[in-house]
Amino acid sequence: MTPLIRVAGLTRHYQMGGTTVRALDGVDIEIEPHTFTVVMGPSGSGKSSLLYLLGGLDRPSGGEIWVDDQRLDTMDENRLAVFRRDRMGFIFQSFNLVQSMSALENVAFPMQFAGVIASQRKERAASLLSQVGLADRSHHKPSELSGGQQQRVAIARALVNNPTLILADEPTGNLDTTSGVTVMQLLSDLHRGGRTVLVVTHDPRMTRFATHKIFLLDGKVVSEAEYQSAALEAPQVPSD
Ligand SMILES: Nc1ncnc2c1ncn2[C@@H]1O[C@H](COP(=O)(O)OP(=O)(O)OP(=O)(O)O)[C@@H](O)[C@H]1O
Ligand SMILES: [Mg+2]
Repeated sequence: MTPLIRVAGLTRHYQMGGTTVRALDGVDIEIEPHTFTVVMGPSGSGKSSLLYLLGGLDRPSGGEIWVDDQRLDTMDENRLAVFRRDRMGFIFQSFNLVQSMSALENVAFPMQFAGVIASQRKERAASLLSQVGLADRSHHKPSELSGGQQQRVAIARALVNNPTLILADEPTGNLDTTSGVTVMQLLSDLHRGGRTVLVVTHDPRMTRFATHKIFLLDGKVVSEAEYQSAALEAPQVPSD
């Protein structure tokens, strides 16, 4: 099977004064379609950097990024914007909902840029909200929803343009365990419905739905065994 995502020799370096931060340091990855991949790694290991590059939200310092046979790292800004809009669904830790808009409006809003007419936007948004179990909350503003509910609105919004790939950066990071599991379950349902899902987390409890795992340490992909032994060697934080 042709991989949906193929990344070769990927680097992302940040210049900070006189020093170079190697956020990603030569990453090679292949991700098959219809998989549920979890990217694990400690804080600062490069997880968000990787996700942003795969989603075309950032440009690499080196290497190649292929998604669905299209090369992203050399794509011009306009084509990349269209590619993101039509092919990618993003979910973030902080939900990123518009506070002044209802759940329904938040979900309907991005369809405007894809040229969908108002009545269809509303209909589709309502259907997506009921898919995430929030039909009865469609007129609530984000401040009138729980964290887990806000994240489910964000998931509905990520689905509006029927994306090939769903990218989520710590989607359960601001949620209690129960809401976190509900959100992961929902992402898992999307995967079982045929989508390709990639989730960044550092919470091992969130990996149970994954079909594949990628482990990052210091900007490099490592094996699970290397990852586990590094975790054992990590200095203990004093508990005083
Ligand atoms: N805009 C930036 N400028 C400079 N350095 C950056 C920038 N963004 C990230 N970095 C550095 O790159 C490294 C990887 O960052 P990244 O955000 O990808 O980590 P992460 O694995 O997502 O961490 P976390 O779990 O804390 O979200 C870190 O050392 C970080 O300090
Ligand atoms: Mg991050």
